[in-house]
Amino acid sequence: MPKRWDDFASIRRAQIEAGMDLTFSKVCLPYYINLVKELRPESLIEVGCGTGHLSENLINHVNTVVAIEPSEGMHAVAKQVIEGSGVQLFRLRAEGYRSTQPFDLIISHMVLQLVDNLELFIESVAQFMVFCQKRRESIRKDTPELDDEQVEAKLKEQWGQLDEEQKSKFIPMGVDVQHISELIPAQASVGQ
Ligand SMILES: C[S@@+](CC[C@H](N)C(=O)[O-])C[C@H]1O[C@@H](n2cnc3c(N)ncnc32)[C@H](O)[C@@H]1O
Repeated sequence: MPKRWDDFASIRRAQIEAGMDLTFSKVCLPYYINLVKELRPESLIEVGCGTGHLSENLINHVNTVVAIEPSEGMHAVAKQVIEGSGVQLFRLRAEGYRSTQPFDLIISHMVLQLVDNLELFIESVAQFMVFCQKRRESIRKDTPELDDEQVEAKLKEQWGQLDEEQKSKFIPMGVDVQHISELIPAQASVGQ
């Protein structure tokens, strides 16, 4: 799927940098800047960062910004856009990213719109996180020869073997989804 974004990268960059993308400059960027000013995260990860302009702006307000982007074309543009900014960029899909650190804030702008049932999606992500938290240490103990990547692969494999009822037992007690919002331009305050 990320391949289809390759050809849009330079067009989108030109539009954003020329100020022609009003949704980006007047709605989305001010929204995210206000959000980080309000939440004051120490670290954030942007999943599917596209041309990288959002991360490049947000690093002015957040100490650590990691951005991941799987499309070759988008990643190539993002690499130029974030150069010298301090944003750490990786060419990866969300599914392939293994974090070495927790993040205070996760941003994924215009990436989840193809997911039909967002609540179900978030619930299943939260259940998987709880499962990983509970199982990771025992896998490490039982199979010390496995490296981190192999442990993650085993977790995925074991999760895939559970049926829906078994998965639903991993109740995300420690996972707190505080806020989900869909930003619709008509509801946002558009600057002049
Ligand atoms: C509509 S674009 C949005 C790009 C950027 N967030 C923005 O607001 O301009 C969707 C982006 O999601 C990326 N993407 C698609 N599948 C992804 C995945 N599995 N993990 C992370 N990013 C993905 C695409 O490569 C593309 O750059």
